[in-house]
Amino acid sequence: MNEIKIFCPASVANVSCGFDVLGFCLDQVGDEMIIRKTDKKGIHILKIEGQDLPLETHKNVAGVAALALLEEHEAPCGFEIEIYKKIKAGSGIGSSAASSAGAVFGINELLGRPFTNKELIKFAMKGEELASGSAHADNVSPVLLGGFTLVRSAKQADVIALPSPSELYATVLHPKIELKTSDARAVLKKNILLEKAIEQWGNLAALVSGLYSEDYELIGRSLVDVVIEPHRSALIPGFKNLKEAAIQNGALGSGISGSGPSIFALSKGENTAQIVGKSMSKEFKSLDIDFEIHISKINPKGIHIISSK
Ligand code: HSE
Repeated sequence: MNEIKIFCPASVANVSCGFDVLGFCLDQVGDEMIIRKTDKKGIHILKIEGQDLPLETHKNVAGVAALALLEEHEAPCGFEIEIYKKIKAGSGIGSSAASSAGAVFGINELLGRPFTNKELIKFAMKGEELASGSAHADNVSPVLLGGFTLVRSAKQADVIALPSPSELYATVLHPKIELKTSDARAVLKKNILLEKAIEQWGNLAALVSGLYSEDYELIGRSLVDVVIEPHRSALIPGFKNLKEAAIQNGALGSGISGSGPSIFALSKGENTAQIVGKSMSKEFKSLDIDFEIHISKINPKGIHIISSK
């Protein structure tokens, strides 16, 4: 195999109560990348379509993640990368994660898989670090493993794949404005009150339990964020009304997708997810900001090969 074309899905991180530790993978929404072997050693980003991003290897998240992999595994060749971006940078649905994970996944496949997808997480995190100044793994993990994932320790790249109830659907409203993760992290407080921490870890543990037991009511009750959302919601136009619209129209819960500005809701069943999408669209139209809506099953597969030669 000399060349590979891959699908690099979008993802929703945090999922309300799981700041920096919880995430899930979306279906259909995502980038494509082509990676091929070349005689010229190193990583060469030849082309990026759909976004104005740097081609220099050291300045590009895909380049930095790929270099981290090659530092640990010497390759007999170099690699050329082409990136076809569909996920906008600063959208809150894992644009940098898709590119970082894509680079290491593609190279790993072309090298005959010296690493498992789980082992690739630590390399992909280097791309996240470049993009946001923080090496979080809550987007790259669901991209590489599919479904829901829980990061027990980002430092140790210790990640657990969680089950996704079969009828769980996500609705994501993406306002077409950019919110940099670094800016959305800058508004956060370094310390939190113990009583808030207790509420947050109660909800996180209950949400994980709800995923295992397919208890949709429990999932809904647990989609609460008392730590991050109060600070970040001010950065997102119309957030409060959108969340209310989603819940009033049958969503189990709703919150900020990653660092925003996208907003997600989870629902039981595709039909409800569609109704929730319509109600969120209706609410957001009054703001005069362009947006798009994605309705998606939780994607169990994650990143995958489209074709190879
Ligand atoms: N957990 C990260 C944050 C995700 O919320 O800052 C960024 O996409």
